Amino acid sequence: MRILLLTHAFNSLTQRLAAELNERGHETSVEFDIADSVTEEAVALYQPALIVAPYLRRAIPESVWSRQVCLIVHPGIVGDRGPSALDWAIANQESEWGVTVLQAQAEMDAGPVWASVTFTMREAKKSSLYRNEVTQAATQAVLLAVQRFESGNFVPPTQASLAPRGQQRPLLQQAERGINWQQDDSATVLRKIRAADGFPGVADHLFGQPCHLFDAWPEAALRGAPGELIARRETALLRATADGAVWIGHVKRQGSIKLPATLTFEAEALAIAEVPLASYWCVKTPSWQDIAYEEDGAVGSLHFEFYNGAMSTLQCERLRAALVWAKQRPTTVLLLLGGADFWSNGIHLNVIEAASLSQGSAADESWRNINAMDDLALELITTEQQITVAALAGNSGAGGCFLARACDPVWAREAVLLNPHYKNMGNLYGSEYWTYLLPRRVGLDAAHAIMRKREPLTAARALAIGLTDACLGGDVPTFQTEVAQRAAQLAGAPDLALQLAAKRERRAHDEAVKPLIAYREEELAQMQRNFYGFDPSYHVARHHFVRKSPASWTPRHLARHRNLNWKADT
Ligand code: COA
Repeated sequence: MRILLLTHAFNSLTQRLAAELNERGHETSVEFDIADSVTEEAVALYQPALIVAPYLRRAIPESVWSRQVCLIVHPGIVGDRGPSALDWAIANQESEWGVTVLQAQAEMDAGPVWASVTFTMREAKKSSLYRNEVTQAATQAVLLAVQRFESGNFVPPTQASLAPRGQQRPLLQQAERGINWQQDDSATVLRKIRAADGFPGVADHLFGQPCHLFDAWPEAALRGAPGELIARRETALLRATADGAVWIGHVKRQGSIKLPATLTFEAEALAIAEVPLASYWCVKTPSWQDIAYEEDGAVGSLHFEFYNGAMSTLQCERLRAALVWAKQRPTTVLLLLGGADFWSNGIHLNVIEAASLSQGSAADESWRNINAMDDLALELITTEQQITVAALAGNSGAGGCFLARACDPVWAREAVLLNPHYKNMGNLYGSEYWTYLLPRRVGLDAAHAIMRKREPLTAARALAIGLTDACLGGDVPTFQTEVAQRAAQLAGAPDLALQLAAKRERRAHDEAVKPLIAYREEELAQMQRNFYGFDPSYHVARHHFVRKSPASWTPRHLARHRNLNWKADT
């Protein structure tokens, strides 16, 4: 079937649906919801059998939904209506939530139900629920709805006939999200910030300045007078609540962009007591710790929980230091676990943008950041005493994919999406030794096709083309258990010494053919042009990305119906 995906952006859910539908033999094209006339034009050009809207912020025009079936993905249970579905579900401490696929009609979210799937709620931020439970349920529900549509004999029931538990809820306003630092306990503060993460955040004040708070983490030990900022650690600030304290990782000042808290208030934070962690060892009492190490027998595990998977120069340098330290441990397998939601999304575009906001140079910061990423990748590629394993529980994009590929095997969770390409960021050439790492896995032609086509890859597809080495099912905890078991097996393999020797030999051989420094210099020569050359595309794209500028057209590689040689009857 020909399916048009009408969406506000090509976000991870839309990417997942496109990939899943294509894998089932459907043909998809994407149009961004920019204006009614643009949507009408897209429908006329593509002539889809069905329209699916995974992520919309406005209603579909009547001229479209009155003529053909448009399926809306709503991140709520049957009967739930309104623009803050997940926010309310977290705020109200729902134990079960869901996704409903309904047919667009005049009244928002009120149409008949084509499919619905429920899931158990987890204590997590909204964006994490969206990327995991919601995406999983939405994929299941959309595939079922598409099957039902294709059958031609399914009559979607009205919401009223399903005796729904959900109800109409308004936009969750800042007045209701607000934190009372004198009265709210830590659990309440965490819940309020999580219900607003990654957008819109909770409006508050820090150092007397209005700002929005994101990225909250529990603290088990430290205490202070409620509302007081009592400590800082790397990028986060600790603020006392009525019964404890909560770490705040990210902050957005009015009119600015979302940044690490200690960078947003760089000068002010210096007056707050620094409470560094004693070591990389993972302490079991909950506190904020972005880089943590655990060891189980011969298996070492390095976690790096960086917000949104973005890795600044400093974060890369700290992670490299941790890696160098972990490599000295008496282990034979080293797991690189990334974070629960993202493994890595490459250089930190917001921190780079911030350099230009504070009279610095975004080009210089980009250069420092890509070099720090390269140093980190190099440290992985040249690990001799351990088999390094990249275990991807969450999505990975751009340089993050090649950082993972710098490990020996890459194991990805089935629900993970990979975007192993750079061009979407203003035609960025990319580094992280991708010109060495990618072709040796998939071949030169396939490597260039991946870069050119910029397609998101499901974990299954990444495995099929040889980019990764395993695709493991289940949710994040199930994946982590299986990864630990596989790592233990690998560490106990009778031929492990032979495997390590073979790895060293292969590296020596590759180095003799073409040294790593040559790959790096060639890539960085291109990156230097991206950062400092006459074409500002990268800087423009980054600016729009971090500012979340609304798209004004759909990229041509997504909107196949807008290709010059496209014909609807082909
Ligand atoms: N630097 C800073 N922030 C980043 C980031 C990066 N490299 N990659 C993603 N983010 C942020 C997004 O701005 C968004 O922020 P929010 O919390 O304010 O919503 C959040 O991470 C999630 O990103 P989003 O695009 O909504 O997630 P997605 O799962 O739909 O898409 C990607 C994932 C990787 C395809 C997309 O985020 C992307 O293209 N990122 C940029 C990758 C890149 O070009 N890196 C630089 C070159 S190495």
